[in-house]
Amino acid sequence: MVEKFSAPKGVSEYFPPRGRDFETAIEKLLEPVRSAGYQLIELPIFEDTELFTRGVGGSTDVVTKEMYTFQDRAGRSLTLRPEGTAGVARSVIEHGLERGQLPIKVFYKGPFFRAERPQAGRYRQFFQVGIEAIGADDPALDAEVIYIAHRALQNLGLKNFTLKISSLGDGESRSKHRIELMKFISHIDLDQESLDRVAKNPLRLFDDKRKEIIAAMESAPLIRDFLSPDSQENYESVKSHLRNLGIAYEEDPRMVRGLDYYTGTTFEFLHHGLGAQSAIGGGGRYDGLLQALGGSQLSGIGFGLGIDRALLALDAEGITLEQERSGLDLYLIPLSPASKITSVALLAKLRESGLRVDMSYGDRGLKGAMKSADKQGAKFTLVLGDDELSSESVHVKNMASGEVVSVKLSASEISSFIKKMI
Ligand code: HAM
Repeated sequence: MVEKFSAPKGVSEYFPPRGRDFETAIEKLLEPVRSAGYQLIELPIFEDTELFTRGVGGSTDVVTKEMYTFQDRAGRSLTLRPEGTAGVARSVIEHGLERGQLPIKVFYKGPFFRAERPQAGRYRQFFQVGIEAIGADDPALDAEVIYIAHRALQNLGLKNFTLKISSLGDGESRSKHRIELMKFISHIDLDQESLDRVAKNPLRLFDDKRKEIIAAMESAPLIRDFLSPDSQENYESVKSHLRNLGIAYEEDPRMVRGLDYYTGTTFEFLHHGLGAQSAIGGGGRYDGLLQALGGSQLSGIGFGLGIDRALLALDAEGITLEQERSGLDLYLIPLSPASKITSVALLAKLRESGLRVDMSYGDRGLKGAMKSADKQGAKFTLVLGDDELSSESVHVKNMASGEVVSVKLSASEISSFIKKMI
């Protein structure tokens, strides 16, 4: 027997009927994004490894443990993108997008890759819808980005989620905090690996899952007490915009995002029906990223929403996505070789007229074909045999009522009849 293949461990995949939900979810998440003027940016799935080590940061699990890195045939080190922001920043710099209208407003959707330990809601290939707004340092823009993420989740129908926000402040705030935090951490007994991480980014220790570290960090100095007057004012302004927009938030001064590029406003959306992997989205401002990647001093802010988790959240809330139009309008059932030839041409014309139409392939006979029509949610069926061909008239059956109506065998007559009925 030939050995069967399985998908690589821990990847998410979507096939019918779930594939439809996946597609609909993306469209719904993107509606508020598009209505705020963001445009598609389509970027490579792999980039230079260095882009992520420098962009995402050497203290993160994403870079140190989770990258899918490989050498191409010329010996260059490439990495499957673990997130979208670094690639957007690279593209903005490479193509000089800042010479156009500022802020640059782009969105993306697609797969991302992190070699994490797979579990429910945590995959090695997963999907995000994300946006980035680059080139304007304005608290109103921070509020816009958070508002769009919030609207996107609401537009999907989700209710049981909350928003957490924090501010990491400007450079001055962070360096003052860092000095005090390092002093505090020097009293904690740490292994070499943790010490190395802390040296790169001491905030990582707030995210440590070990009980003794959690306990030790209980009284650690928090960034909110070190915000410079400017940063404080900026943060207050973001919060006041959010209140004006009617968006409820909780402040979480201990929130640490999993990527190193953040500065200023950071946020996460948590869903309460998902267990351990509760973050359905997150983002924040990154004021040093473009410069760190060789670009000019442009600030940016954005978010990534996890599509896989959003779908699980819909399940948890018992929400079925409303499909705009589900199922087929019409199903053709040819019963003879001659009617098959007519059906193929008729099918094409009916589809071009805007109807959703399929036909029974494989010469399966009337009973099997009717079953297929039913399974595909066809609203009408049309049986075509030699008699219908010679009389040039067909019977169209309404699958819900069972009513049968005789219609002239012409694509335009059949199409207008079906359109009138649906
Ligand atoms: P992130 O928080 O790493 O941010 O990812 C955003 C969202 O992607 C998470 O909240 C989660 O829903 C989903 N996600 C992440 N990892 C996985 C996984 N292994 N399996 C399933 N879902 C996952 C970023 O990626 C930033 N680039 C967001 C951003 C844009 N910040 C500024 N601009």
